[in-house]
Amino acid sequence: MRTIIEQGHTFEEWMTPVQIAKDVQQVADQINRDYADKMPLFVVVLNGAFVFAADLLRRVEARSEVTFIRVSSYYGMASQGKLNFLVPLQQSVKGRDVIIVEDIVDTGLTIHQLKAHLRAEGATSTRVAAMFFKPDKLEYNDARPDYMGHAITNEFIIGYGLDLDGFHRNLDAIYKVKE
Ligand code: IMP
Ligand code: MG
Repeated sequence: MRTIIEQGHTFEEWMTPVQIAKDVQQVADQINRDYADKMPLFVVVLNGAFVFAADLLRRVEARSEVTFIRVSSYYGMASQGKLNFLVPLQQSVKGRDVIIVEDIVDTGLTIHQLKAHLRAEGATSTRVAAMFFKPDKLEYNDARPDYMGHAITNEFIIGYGLDLDGFHRNLDAIYKVKE
């Protein structure tokens, strides 16, 4: 089994590229069914979602567009959070059926705030496609993914776009931290 050592933690391969591809295809199948007669605009959340988005969008059959956004959440006191737009929206979402593409939904704060922003900018609908979802950590119910590759427990994972302090996004498999 392949292992990665980073910052004193050992990560073990947990999902192979073949398993990942199956989940991505399943997400694409659902989007293809729901958006067959629509023209979605994919809003990809950088940096983490770039690998998932590249695989997913090549399996989407609907006539569609893609744009990118980069956000970071700053946690103030208590559970208050503020979304900071490092790369703002480059394209109008007014009247569009938006599909947000995320690597992983954890507390859901990022998606919760991004959805509010997109709605304020006039999006007709805002759905979420996330490769991974940690249901036990969800704090914002409207951030529950509409399309999901894989639900996971609370362990930390890296690879396939997901990082530990910026590293290992390029791994082709998912690695889970060993207890
Ligand atoms: P949320 O706003 O709490 O849902 O945080 C989502 C963001 O946290 C993701 O876009 C990731 O950048 C990061 N994140 C959460 N869990 C993990 C993990 O297991 N590995 C790597 N990044 C994670
Ligand atoms: Mg992210």
